[in-house]
Order: sequence, then structure tokens, then C-alpha cells
Amino acid sequence: MPGNMIKIAKVSDFAHTRMKSYKVLARPVGVFKNPDGSFRAMEVGCKHENADLTTGRMDGDIVVCPWHGWKYNLRTGECLWGSTACLRPYALQVEGNDIYISLRPLDPDVPDPSAGEW
Ligand code: FES
Repeated sequence: MPGNMIKIAKVSDFAHTRMKSYKVLARPVGVFKNPDGSFRAMEVGCKHENADLTTGRMDGDIVVCPWHGWKYNLRTGECLWGSTACLRPYALQVEGNDIYISLRPLDPDVPDPSAGEW
């Protein structure tokens, strides 16, 4: 495991939910379970008024903010409603039942080759 990643959750934590938020270096980060059972990690503060997106609704690859309905594509981080600001991804790796994420968000235009899936 690269030294810039930390264990944040367990796969079994997602048996009955598809998204949860955590704090990494005091920043809120969401871990999302994809429809195919893989995982991704993203910034989780809505770009409108910073609502926690993991308290919203997930529909396939789209998460809908619980406060005013802005939508984000979790595959790209793109805001589909109301803003040009994107959610930044975090690197994520699964080892057995453990989920690791990077300490800092990745630049979505510069994929981290050591990052695995995100
Ligand atoms: S805080 Fe998310 S749409 Fe307003």
C-alpha cells in the first residue's frame, strides 16, 4: 500500500448502504459503492452550500444533493446542475475487506498511476 493512503473503511460497512462520509485531514470525503460493487472516493461537500452529498440520493453513477437537488456524476465528479465546479476524486484501493484512500484528492486531469481504481 502506498504510504500516502490510509485505511478508511471496510467493504462490509457497505452491506446496507451505498455511501458514507469520513474525515481525512479534516476534510469530508465520501466513499461510494458503485452499482457493480466496486468503490470510489470523492469530495463530499456540495459545491452550492456544502451539504454532505452522502445524505442525499444515489441513482446509478449520479448523486443528488439533499438540500437543493444539484446532481453530480460520480464517475467524473462533474456537476450536472448549477455549477461548473467538479468534485475531486481521491485514489481508492480495496484489499480484502479493507478500503484505503489517498490522504489528498487527485487532480482529475492527472490520474495517479499508483492509485488503482477511483
Ligand atoms: S447545498 Fe447542494 S444543492 Fe444546495
